[in-house]
Amino acid sequence: MNRTEILQRMRAARPIIAPSMLKCDFGNLAHEVERLTAAKSKVLHWDVMDGHFVPNLSYGPMVIEKVRPLTDMVFDAHLMISDPDHYLDEYLKAGCDAISFHLEAVPQPTALLRRIREAGRVAGLVLNPKTPLSDVAPFVGEIDLLLLMSVQAGFGGQSFIPASVEKLRQARQMISPDTILSVDGGIGLKTIAACAQAGTDLFVVGSAIFDQTDYTVAVEELTRLAS
Ligand code: DX5
Ligand code: ZN
Repeated sequence: MNRTEILQRMRAARPIIAPSMLKCDFGNLAHEVERLTAAKSKVLHWDVMDGHFVPNLSYGPMVIEKVRPLTDMVFDAHLMISDPDHYLDEYLKAGCDAISFHLEAVPQPTALLRRIREAGRVAGLVLNPKTPLSDVAPFVGEIDLLLLMSVQAGFGGQSFIPASVEKLRQARQMISPDTILSVDGGIGLKTIAACAQAGTDLFVVGSAIFDQTDYTVAVEELTRLAS
């Protein structure tokens, strides 16, 4: 797929419930992907952590590369790493369709955003809760996706930060209607509707899916509340 096709697929899948591959059963990854496919997930969110930009270490491109042939879901990589420019080619090779990195790690992100787009992939920026939207204003023309963290990046299972709803509403006004607005952290049955009303397109969900016994029911419930 090229960037236009990836964007079309993501937009067509709205509201997107994107399972976050952080709290999944890594001992049965292929089976987890089968269960998520059965739950009709269209986008898989890969939470890459380097143990440096965030105080947690998850996995790198090798794991994503091995899962790539198992599914045609859109791979949405969230790079919580200090030097995304250095590792970009490995995530492109691993088959990531959308690649988002933190503005806090790359204060001048234009060149890297353009590299991702030129590679035919969706380019995204991520803001931690404390980073003001004004910091991303100069780059809204360079992004296909904006991800606002509703918890501090680094761990699943944290509590949703309520101020995120207003930040999402403001972000929606700032970016093009075609830009995908994502939220990540503490998204569940109690928090997803407010985020959807604020104009969010993509909802990254960890605990509210992987802590449930039936992923299909979890995704259906979340989709209903986000619609
Ligand atoms: C934080 C991670 C988590 C994860 C979602 O860096 O990005 O937000 O995706 O986990 P839950 O849904 O359990 O908060
Ligand atoms: Zn994430």
